[in-house]
Amino acid sequence: MKTVRVELDQRSYDIHVGPSVLADAGRLMRPVLKAPRVIVVADARVATLHGAALAAALSEAGIAHATVDVPPGEGSKDFAHLERLIEQLLERRLERATTLVALGGGVVGDLVGFAAAIALRGVDYVQVPTTLLAQVDSSVGGKTAINTRHGKNLVGSFHQPRLVLADTGVLGTLPRREMLAGYAEVVKYGVIGDAGFFAWLERYGAAVTGGDADALGHAVTTSCRAKARVVAADEREAGLRETLNFGHTFGHALEAEAGYGDALLHGEAVAFGMVLATRLSVERGLCPEGDLARVRAHLAAAGLPTRFADLPQFRWNAPRLMQHMAHDKKVQDQRIRFVLTRGIGTAFTSSDVPPAAVAAMLETAIAERAVPA
Ligand code: GLY
Repeated sequence: MKTVRVELDQRSYDIHVGPSVLADAGRLMRPVLKAPRVIVVADARVATLHGAALAAALSEAGIAHATVDVPPGEGSKDFAHLERLIEQLLERRLERATTLVALGGGVVGDLVGFAAAIALRGVDYVQVPTTLLAQVDSSVGGKTAINTRHGKNLVGSFHQPRLVLADTGVLGTLPRREMLAGYAEVVKYGVIGDAGFFAWLERYGAAVTGGDADALGHAVTTSCRAKARVVAADEREAGLRETLNFGHTFGHALEAEAGYGDALLHGEAVAFGMVLATRLSVERGLCPEGDLARVRAHLAAAGLPTRFADLPQFRWNAPRLMQHMAHDKKVQDQRIRFVLTRGIGTAFTSSDVPPAAVAAMLETAIAERAVPA
């Protein structure tokens, strides 16, 4: 087991990464609990796979536990499900010393984190992420949120967990497509800030997505370390943390256009979004073309979309994508803030990209879908 520390003064916490962390969950949690009782809020599908193992680990450590299941899927991240969850927590006699445990992927983590931030004016919670995407990104850093009809993650808070338990063994039950979607966020850490890690992924990425225990452990630990460093330096996203959104401005627009469903997963949208952000950087004269070729080749080799032609089921339209981007949370004084790159390992944010340049790049890229490969 490897441990990564997120340094935030009194709110610092550990991320434990390893292949049998779940079996040890009670022992690892015990020291951070205000009282030996928790309420486990689980994705209903994950509960059937891993709920019993977690319950056994909690009992073994003398931790009393109740459970609440949440329906799988992004639809659970809304006001209605938040209200239902809070009522269920209160029915189970939630007290200020009770800790919530989020068992599942990013949906459950974001929902439970937000419920923890507001129930009884704030209780502690522990993240037990069971998808690669949640292990390397959403469970770390304290961003919690639900969606509204105006867009994703528009209502939420910064509320740090007390502990993150990332059991890489549970990723064995993850559908391949979800594994790949999570892998896009792993690649992101290389592209934004660690050229050496990107080169390592070029060599061992197939082992990571294939579930090789050592490769997976290294990839998750390195990703968590990168995220912990950024969050410690800029918890509230005043600057550096924005670079974690590399590919996300384009990615969110692609997701919005695709309808936020299974047709295009968040990680898939981020993969293609990273290619578009790198291409924009090349067109602005900031990034060598060879780096765009490497980013695209690596993501494509992993099986992720990197061209509009890879997503032929949608009717892509540059003005509509531009409209979605104009609603991005990072818009400041009506200017879209893009995360760009000077090359693999060097991301930065910019408000200086003329919208016309972005629209022209998208028009060209969409038109390329008609060109045979
Ligand atoms: N997922 C980006 C962040 O946590 O800041």
